[in-house]
Amino acid sequence: MSEPVLDVRHLQVQFITQTKPVVAVEELSFQLRKGEKLGIVGESGSGKSVTSLAIMGLVPTPGRITQGEIWFTPEGRSARDLLQVNEAERRSYRGGEIAMIFQEPMSALNPVYDIGFQLTEAIFLHQKLSSQDARRKAIALLQEVQLLASDETLQQQCRQAHPNYSDREVSSYINQHKQSILKRYPHELSGGQLQRVTIAMAISCNPSVLIADEPTTALDVTVQATILDLLRHLCDERGMALIFITHDLGVIAELVDSVVVMYQGKVVEAGKVASVFSHAQHPYTKGLLACRPRLDCRLQILPTVTDFMEVTTTPAGKIQITEKQTDINRKPKVVTETEQQARLKQLLQQESLMSVNQLRVGFPTKGMFGKTKKYLMAVNNVSFKVYPGETLGLVGESGCGKSTLARTLLRLIQPLEGDVVFAGDNITNLALRSQKLRSLVDKCRLFFKTPIILLIPALILAKRSPNP
Ligand SMILES: Nc1ncnc2c1ncn2[C@@H]1O[C@H](COP(=O)(O)OP(=O)(O)OP(=O)(O)O)[C@@H](O)[C@H]1O
Ligand SMILES: [Mg+2]
Repeated sequence: MSEPVLDVRHLQVQFITQTKPVVAVEELSFQLRKGEKLGIVGESGSGKSVTSLAIMGLVPTPGRITQGEIWFTPEGRSARDLLQVNEAERRSYRGGEIAMIFQEPMSALNPVYDIGFQLTEAIFLHQKLSSQDARRKAIALLQEVQLLASDETLQQQCRQAHPNYSDREVSSYINQHKQSILKRYPHELSGGQLQRVTIAMAISCNPSVLIADEPTTALDVTVQATILDLLRHLCDERGMALIFITHDLGVIAELVDSVVVMYQGKVVEAGKVASVFSHAQHPYTKGLLACRPRLDCRLQILPTVTDFMEVTTTPAGKIQITEKQTDINRKPKVVTETEQQARLKQLLQQESLMSVNQLRVGFPTKGMFGKTKKYLMAVNNVSFKVYPGETLGLVGESGCGKSTLARTLLRLIQPLEGDVVFAGDNITNLALRSQKLRSLVDKCRLFFKTPIILLIPALILAKRSPNP
């Protein structure tokens, strides 16, 4: 077996908070070999992200690595303990030989610079290239992450669209197309496209290790599958090792070779993914596997890992986990088809709480001759009703208009046509400052994909308030 490219030994990370120290990672050890794909799974707060930040040397204050070793073997050189090297050497590895991508691509990109600038900046950080070569490399990377079509495909597309072009015109068309993608700003790209840009930035310096912290959690399943395919392809092509952090066991089963299961900062189980999934040993892993959402039936009560294990703390403060045998063998109670129909019938007998009729929402785009306004239609003739006590699911792939529709229901966006009736009031044409529309905020609320969107304004408001 080859030598590990990364060897984490007995890592411990603590956060010194005002009350008591939080041990985010404790006695964590694992190895990663060249080309290997390792998954780290665990519930929220189990220490997955802190582990990746410790490897990158980015643990934020008041966090501290209080114990352990992180041995990294750069290509063709001897192993170095990253916790013992100086900051300059650490910086040379960070973003170069060890790169990272995050859940939210926007957290890695700057909205005021175009992607060409940001990509070449990442290249310049670790490589001495002329700006022309850096731009050429940026384009090659965008082709590698499939944000930009290959030269052959571009050539074919051009020849199909313009059969009379000379070779010179074809080459100028391809060049213009390539340059135009570099000039695009982050807000002009979708979530999946942005994640491809951050992957291009991460692989720009040919890293030996790529850490991906939930890179597909904010993406729909179709886009997620293409990003997973891309990561798999990059690892195989480049011999790059991958640490893939997720709470999604389906993704783990699909992508990685080995898995580390974390619970409260500790590794509770590790091994080859097939053996961990088929012969899980630890009650927490068994619980995680048993709690996967089911598509074949609806359960009366959704299981949680605590149904499968007992967690106690010893007088010395150590956590002990034991298996709840009875619960493992218990058959969960299922809501039958008849029960579902009966509930639905009961709901539909009520007066609807919200009624959406033929709603059309569009974003204006500039027409050919100044004044002509065209609309990019995001929501097209949508109608539905919601009844008190009902849970209505709205699903669809990226860009199909779900969020626009949700915002329109609260009048954060004005629809072009159609009505939204809430509790008997047609709110579509209420004046923005009217008392009725303001009172809607108390009755109908929205929460977002990214919690930080909500928390930062709340913090600013709290700070501005005279009596916080
Ligand atoms: N800056 C900080 N200050 C104090 N405690 C922190 C800080 N950052 C993380 N922690 C704590 O460290 C522990 C591990 O957090 P971490 O972010 O690694 O969890 P995670 O497994 O990545 O969770 P998620 O799946 O929600 O991303 C948590 O108990 C968290 O509260
Ligand atoms: Mg995390």
